[in-house]
Amino acid sequence: MNEIRTFGVLGAGQMGGGIAHVAAQAGFQVLIADVALARAEKAKAEIDKRLGKAVEKGKLTADERTAIVGRITPVEGIPGLAPSDFVVEAVNEDESLKKQIFRQFDEICRPEVILATNTSSIPITRIGAVTRRPTQVIGMHFMNPVPVMKLVEIIRGLATSDETYATTQALCARMEKTTVVSRDISGFIVNRILMPMINEAAYALYEGIGTAADIDAGMKLGTNQPMGPLELADFIGLDTCLAIMEVLHTGLGDAKYRPCPLLRQHVDAGWLGRKSGRGFHRYDTPAKG
Ligand code: CAA
Repeated sequence: MNEIRTFGVLGAGQMGGGIAHVAAQAGFQVLIADVALARAEKAKAEIDKRLGKAVEKGKLTADERTAIVGRITPVEGIPGLAPSDFVVEAVNEDESLKKQIFRQFDEICRPEVILATNTSSIPITRIGAVTRRPTQVIGMHFMNPVPVMKLVEIIRGLATSDETYATTQALCARMEKTTVVSRDISGFIVNRILMPMINEAAYALYEGIGTAADIDAGMKLGTNQPMGPLELADFIGLDTCLAIMEVLHTGLGDAKYRPCPLLRQHVDAGWLGRKSGRGFHRYDTPAKG
């Protein structure tokens, strides 16, 4: 395995920004890109702000904050990631977009570089197949918020090599993440189980079984979860939840994964959750990043 010093991240939203944060904290030089340089710069500013709060709480020194932020370099688009020793893609859950990105990664990254995707449900085998290096394509699924959640779900495509898996596993350990390994079947482990629960909560609301507040309180207090399922859906983004349910429905072909019409309607209305100020619940101010 070649030494990994420079970690490339494509996508500067809440997942990409979180991945850049933990990679820089683990000591990697991080390159972060999005469609526009300004978005990558904004993600860096948000990481700096978050680290500032950690300094205020006494969890980090001011020097550590400066060093971590200093390791993050916003770059212009996919070509800016060319010097990376390892890249991870964290863009929208859109298969054709991901395939297009992996074709470009394959062109610009050195042949030995591993290409990882943070996809939460799309099969890695299909993404790897569009490259000339499917043995070096792997799923590296972080959870939101990335700096807080301990898990990374690793998904091996049919062609992913043992060496690629071992390198990815070692990177996760360096980022102090615990890993689980999933077979490459739509939804993997976490979303195969989580999304049908969220979808069922949407059906419970749709059928008038309870109010959004009661459904969430019931699950939060009754099953000891940190957030109720509708609140969690708003936190993840209802567009992402719908996209994952579509992947489960088409990928597994079972009617039990049919997306709830109310979930679809919220997405149609632009009520995407916290990020847009309204989802199953209302929020005073849309979340940043
Ligand atoms: N980024 C970085 N740190 C964050 C953060 C963020 N976006 N949000 C909260 N934190 C940190 C806070 O700074 C705080 O840190 P300290 O303990 O060091 O002070 C800590 O998290 C707790 O935060 P709060 O006290 O503000 O709030 P909380 O106790 O209510 O916890 C939560 C917030 C961690 C988000 C908690 O509600 C939770 O665990 N929710 C469930 C999250 C979850 O299930 N995520 C997985 C979603 S599924 C997924 O990601 C996969 C997919 O493909 C869809």
